[in-house]
Amino acid sequence: MRSDWYATWFGGLVCVLLALVAGGCRVAQTVEPTPVPDRLAQPTLPGQPSQADYGAQVYWLWCLPCHGDRGQGLTDEFRTAYPPEDRNCWASGCHGERPYDDGFVLPKTVPPLIGAGALARFSSAAQLHAYVQTAMPYWQPGILSEEEGWQVTAFLLRENDLWSGGGELGPENASDLDLSAARRRIRWPGVFALAVTALLLSSLVVFLWRRRFMDERE
Ligand code: HEC
Repeated sequence: MRSDWYATWFGGLVCVLLALVAGGCRVAQTVEPTPVPDRLAQPTLPGQPSQADYGAQVYWLWCLPCHGDRGQGLTDEFRTAYPPEDRNCWASGCHGERPYDDGFVLPKTVPPLIGAGALARFSSAAQLHAYVQTAMPYWQPGILSEEEGWQVTAFLLRENDLWSGGGELGPENASDLDLSAARRRIRWPGVFALAVTALLLSSLVVFLWRRRFMDERE
């Protein structure tokens, strides 16, 4: 009886090990060196580009180097996309206190433009556009044409789900495009985290209380 049990157990173990080895071999066979996508590469245009699609090109050319490949800002992580010698933007001779000839000093933080909390200081698309047109790109404000300014604004709004991306954004409709949703977005993750924490804590209290109750009954 005891040896039967042992045989079943041992057989099972062998089967599991075989399955693992076989699975491992399959995985090993299918893993090929996948080419690392170049995060700094120019995006491709779709067949019939929208204003926002053109904006992605403007973003890549004029904004990405500082605001990141996903609009995350100049984060430590994003700077690893650059060759090692270009990762310290604030070195002297680069964009630090003593920049290269005709260079400029870059502030320590470059804000994110896409994602939670981004663009929250702007109340309308028109205001965002005016800022981009007059203050960006940081090192040479005013260099974008009117058309490029609207394109990149349309792109930023689309990426933030603040604009459908269809149709044209311009002086006639940008004042009506309200960006208060960008501000509301900030608080939701906090509220959600608080609700989950409250739920977990109350479950724990109920659990402990019930256990004590059971103990007392025994
Ligand atoms: C050389 C780096 C650099 C480049 C290139 C650049 N920016 Fe900026 N950007 C900054 C810095 C630094 C700030 C913060 C400026 C400040 O707070 O005064 C900023 C701020 C902004 C803000 C305000 C964000 C906020 O929440 O305060 C927007 C919008 C913006 N940039 C859009 C753009 C766009 C669009 C482009 C491309 C056309 C661009 N930037 C190119 C460095 C850059």
